[in-house]
Amino acid sequence: MTVREIYDTMAYGAAPESAADAYAWLVDQGDRFGHFIDGVFTDPGEGFESRNPATGEVLATLTQATAEDVEESVAAARKAQGRWERLGGPGRARHLYALARLLQKHARLFAVLETLDNGKPIREARDIDVPLAQRHFYFHAGLAQLLESERPGQQALGVCGQVIPWNFPLLMLSWKVAPALAAGNTVVLKPAEWTSLTALLFADICRQAGLPKGVVNIVTGDGEVGEMIVAHEGIDKVAFTGSTAVGRRIREVTAGQGKGLTLELGGKSPYVVFDDADLDSAVEGLVDAIWFNQGQVCCAGSRLLVQEGVAERFHDKLRHRMANLRMGNPLDKCIDIGAMVDPVQRDRVAEMVAACDSGQTYRADIDTPQTGAFYPPTLITGLSPADPLMQEEIFGPVLVGTTFRTPAEAVQLANNIRYGLAASVWSENLNLALDVAPKLAAGVVWINGTNMFDAAAPFGGVRESGFGREGGWEGLSAYLKPAGQPKKLKPLEPFPGNGDPEPGIDRTPKLYIGGKQARPDGGYSRAIHARSGKLLGQVPIANRKDIRNAVEAARGASAWSATPGHSRAQILYYMAENLSARTDDFASRINAQTGARTGKREVEAAITRLFSYAAWADKFDGQAHGVPLRGMALAMREPVGVIGVICPDEAPLLGLISMIGPAMAMGNRAVLLASEPFPLSALEFVQILETSDVPGGVVNILTGSHAELAPHLAGHADVDAVWSFSSSDISGEVERASAGNLKRTWVNNGHARDWFAPEAEGRAFLEQATEVKTVWVPYGE
Ligand code: NAI
Repeated sequence: MTVREIYDTMAYGAAPESAADAYAWLVDQGDRFGHFIDGVFTDPGEGFESRNPATGEVLATLTQATAEDVEESVAAARKAQGRWERLGGPGRARHLYALARLLQKHARLFAVLETLDNGKPIREARDIDVPLAQRHFYFHAGLAQLLESERPGQQALGVCGQVIPWNFPLLMLSWKVAPALAAGNTVVLKPAEWTSLTALLFADICRQAGLPKGVVNIVTGDGEVGEMIVAHEGIDKVAFTGSTAVGRRIREVTAGQGKGLTLELGGKSPYVVFDDADLDSAVEGLVDAIWFNQGQVCCAGSRLLVQEGVAERFHDKLRHRMANLRMGNPLDKCIDIGAMVDPVQRDRVAEMVAACDSGQTYRADIDTPQTGAFYPPTLITGLSPADPLMQEEIFGPVLVGTTFRTPAEAVQLANNIRYGLAASVWSENLNLALDVAPKLAAGVVWINGTNMFDAAAPFGGVRESGFGREGGWEGLSAYLKPAGQPKKLKPLEPFPGNGDPEPGIDRTPKLYIGGKQARPDGGYSRAIHARSGKLLGQVPIANRKDIRNAVEAARGASAWSATPGHSRAQILYYMAENLSARTDDFASRINAQTGARTGKREVEAAITRLFSYAAWADKFDGQAHGVPLRGMALAMREPVGVIGVICPDEAPLLGLISMIGPAMAMGNRAVLLASEPFPLSALEFVQILETSDVPGGVVNILTGSHAELAPHLAGHADVDAVWSFSSSDISGEVERASAGNLKRTWVNNGHARDWFAPEAEGRAFLEQATEVKTVWVPYGE
């Protein structure tokens, strides 16, 4: 091209980044990699090739881990864990800091290797992936430093099994490894089979940083290796990022193993443009939302919702912008769109798009390389909300969209999806944007921005986008547990009867559904006896239909979630007051059921606990996180929604209150299965609910067999989370049944709790009763 032509076309010349150092590093390693176990690289074994998706060139050969490799890596991590934790927060902080420094020193090598292996534009690897990975290690060095003073009484979980995807190989590694190490855990990590090279370079960095051997272990291989890791009994916590299908599989495989689990899964995030938005900024935002990393981003703004009045103008501007995107050699610093991760992924996207026969498809007429896994930026407008492309994650550079008329319709369309990872809202009217943000079912909301990330700002989803948060103190808590050894909980059996009739008037407690006492659907009751064998009463046996009715009632009581904390507190105080007026009644009923003499103490503890949660109702606030961008990340605490609760069997009243208290205080509605052997106190508590202005449907109480009912409750698609504190061994069933809609679970794993202890209330419960929604707002300069 002549200079004159360049002036005429204003075309960019190529500005390729040199890949010489990255190739030299690969050659240094012999182009064949083993695993990184116990501080050394193992000899390469049978494996597979890792290719540059932009050219098809083989970059290296990787080893497919065997069961023995996984065994060895878990054993190495186990051996290293105690000493690593005992180094203490400040000791570990030094190591994390050293890793951050080395990532910084080798920033360009990491960026180039990432681009070679993944196909992403060097501009992104250099300016986003690698700096964010460094920031993650620096930030978590800080959390480790402060851990002991800020989170007293907490300890590491142990050995973490971490499986990551191919879209942000180094960044996802840092999101997993940094918090795990900061909290005192050790790690076995498996990178995705298409993109393992920067993880292996990171292993090299761990060696250089003098990280104690066994603290970080990296094994390579496919999904089978991933499954061996997550299922391994030596793993205490699993952290996964990837597809929803694999997340569900991991939930099933780990059910009942007593492991911690966080899942960061797929998304189909709405990108909402109101008619008063700065349209040019919103178009520019879209480039980052859907064409960043070729759309292979879990939180990509992949569903465009534009207000009708500006839709045409907006689509025109967008098409114009698309025609100016540059696609090509990912190592060229001037290009916007690189290669997709692998031809397989490109073909998957192409097939999905080819199957769509509605809407209008626009593809920019831009140069598309003839070889390599390239796919042109694509816009499909005029789809209906139910179209498969509006519902399914495409995970490619394909934007689909429709229009809306009113803010209410925008919210409804945005939420009409099984996912709930992120959302972007564009409007120059901050009143409108801040009104819409809380209504969106998403773990992250960006206002007049998109795809912003920071180590201080929690990230994660709701619904089938998974559970758990990464980043900030909020994310760190997924790598910690209360210090001390838990005791085993023995199953509590009901007392058998001796045939003595019940003295006095026959009392017939009923189920409590939607604010009304209800007979059980099945028409069966069960006799409850005192330790002496004397009959104390008959309680209904709930069935699946009763569960459905109760969940429906709880769903209908959504106004509770919007009730201000102050008003919720008033009702909790009122409950405490009314319970206090009937202390003796409740106390003697507890004594009669349990055969112990702790009734009075239990009622008093229950009253105090209600007071505590009334106090918390307007005080368990979110946090405003400072982020190094022109904005602020508000980590809001939102109610989870409808929580299914299997109450503790022991402490029939205090156990119930320990569940109702945090659930109600944070604005949730609950469906509770009362203590199985001692259910009378829960049903009697209905009278307190009825006289304390608790709106119908907020609390629903059922009685019956935990083992039979829990799977129905945990499997119900309209339940958002399940807590199980039953003394029967049902944690596994609950976790397994929860996999359907990937609801959050909190189970006791057969461990006992002292319900009278101060640890049986407070922050840990409130965290379970809330979701963190991170709202990024423009703030300051
Ligand atoms: P994937 O979910 O299969 O792979 C992610 C990771 O999980 C890889 O390391 C893989 O080896 C591992 N894995 C696979 N099966 C496993 C199992 N049974 N147990 C444990 N680990 C297992 O993602 P894939 O197949 O590469 O992509 C398919 C679709 O998933 C994409 O088109 C996209 O829609 C979605 N996806 C979403 C991601 C996200 O960040 N939300 C990331 C990657 C893919």
